[in-house]
Amino acid sequence: MESAQDWHGAKALLEWYIELGAVDAIGDAPIDRYALEPTPPKPTKSPPASTLAPAAKAPATAAPQQDFVALAKQAAAAAKDLDALRAAIEAFEGCEMKRGARNTVIADGNPAARVMIIGEAPGRDEDIAGKPFVGRAGQLLDKMFAAIGMGRDAPLSKDAIYITNVMPWRPPNNRDPSADEIAMMVPFLERHVQLVAPDLIVLMGNSPCQAVLGRKGIMRMRGTWDEAWGKPVMPMTHPAYLLRTPAAKREAWADLLSIQAKLRDLT
Ligand code: URA
Repeated sequence: MESAQDWHGAKALLEWYIELGAVDAIGDAPIDRYALEPTPPKPTKSPPASTLAPAAKAPATAAPQQDFVALAKQAAAAAKDLDALRAAIEAFEGCEMKRGARNTVIADGNPAARVMIIGEAPGRDEDIAGKPFVGRAGQLLDKMFAAIGMGRDAPLSKDAIYITNVMPWRPPNNRDPSADEIAMMVPFLERHVQLVAPDLIVLMGNSPCQAVLGRKGIMRMRGTWDEAWGKPVMPMTHPAYLLRTPAAKREAWADLLSIQAKLRDLT
């Protein structure tokens, strides 16, 4: 069938669907494939039987599911520096979210920073820019840390922050990442923390609490120091929540002061 849609139109339409969160290509009407006549196999030009190697047995069952957590562990352990880690994450094919994302969003800030911030996942702005926390929530995060004299552009490690996310790909419709999706990215996150070696970690919201501490409940957890991977860890409410709930900024300010005090104690 001849289509009225040109290549550029079709590409723009497809990008729009992805923007809306589509992750699978399906038809307009369901097809009952069990009711279809089996299609006869296509005739292939085969070499004469005498030249064939003994036939390999077709597998009786579907290929076994890949263990993506194990693959992620292997790939993360092999990454000797941050560039290698970036390449390993970009090459990882275990997570469906990658298919709908424009960019793999790894990190921003100073890798020598004393403070490493772990957020949830890129949103639309971050997906476009290829950097974490550049939208409204990110601007608030910058203001929050500026209030204690720290920032992602600070050249000195004592004043610097380094920012990453649990998920390097934008979730479709900005949904929460599932426990399985988080689990397969944890090995990369743990290696990321080892390579940056910050003095302390800040977890922004529930997904990083799940990834790093193995449990959620940010409203209960925020403000209380914990420990993971040998580092002090402070859970905080996510800046996107603070934008919706300005009254919670008071507690966030208390958490920032606690971070500032901890950094003083650790020097
Ligand atoms: N929210 C996050 O958790 N991370 C980002 O990068 C942007 C918004």
